[in-house]
Amino acid sequence: MNNAELYQRSNILQKRDALECLEEYGKRIKWKNGRIKILDIGCGDGSVTVDILKKFIPNNCEKLIGCDISENMIQFANEHHASDHTSFMVLDIEEDMPSELRESFDNVFSFYTLQWVKHQEVAFTNIYNLLKKGGECLLAFLGHMPVFDVYRVLSRSTKWKSWLKDAERFISPYHDNQNPEKIVKQMMTSIGFTSVEVECLEKTFIFPDLDALKGLVTSVNPFEIPKDLEEDFLLDYFNVLRDMHVIDHESSNVDGPIKATFNYRLIVAKGRK
Ligand SMILES: C[S@@+](CC[C@H](N)C(=O)[O-])C[C@H]1O[C@@H](n2cnc3c(N)ncnc32)[C@H](O)[C@@H]1O
Repeated sequence: MNNAELYQRSNILQKRDALECLEEYGKRIKWKNGRIKILDIGCGDGSVTVDILKKFIPNNCEKLIGCDISENMIQFANEHHASDHTSFMVLDIEEDMPSELRESFDNVFSFYTLQWVKHQEVAFTNIYNLLKKGGECLLAFLGHMPVFDVYRVLSRSTKWKSWLKDAERFISPYHDNQNPEKIVKQMMTSIGFTSVEVECLEKTFIFPDLDALKGLVTSVNPFEIPKDLEEDFLLDYFNVLRDMHVIDHESSNVDGPIKATFNYRLIVAKGRK
């Protein structure tokens, strides 16, 4: 998940969902007047921040900052997407926030990141503390996703278990939950957010071709698989997806034509400080 170059070529699903989310929920954001400062948490390579989010934010934004735990991602984002008003910085949303960032953002966004965070309450409290009074956040992150079941199956197999020891760490805390919106809403309200709205959306993504599926699963793979085992790992990964009927059974090998459909749940949370 550190390969920014591969990620920017492979995040078609994430880009589609960020766009749909901003089209639907962006209209309901009450943007402040005067100069505003905006943060995108878990910006990755920076392409969603600049190619999608930036198009929705008003002209009175004087600073758009993307942050990410990964130094590689931030270096790539600064090299490819920084400009006068836009920059990128390393920041772990699960750690103590630098004091100079407290209460400094009018809007906080995050796409496809918070499912990686184990200490949800710490991250959401940090988001609250990063916002100025009256500021708003819009956060989209994964609930149930077939990829997480693949991690579980492979982590139990004799062949792969030593490489996937910490698989649970990379599975959304809401993957097994039937009613994640209730948990997230309660958590946000208890932290102090007001006007909290949380929805859990049923989404479907049909991969246009094999390369798109390979690119996505490889670019978000959090496990350190040795180079010489990568192809074998991908074969077994695809076989699990076939057993789960995510990949059509007629798609018989990794190099042939393929029909793959992800049905998954995306949680969208909005709140005000
Ligand atoms: C799937 S990418 C999403 C990137 C981008 N937002 C998008 O929608 O394409 C998730 C990103 O979250 C970052 N991330 C994971 N844990 C994080 C944390 N605790 N704090 C900040 N970023 C984190 C990863 O490094 C990765 O770049």
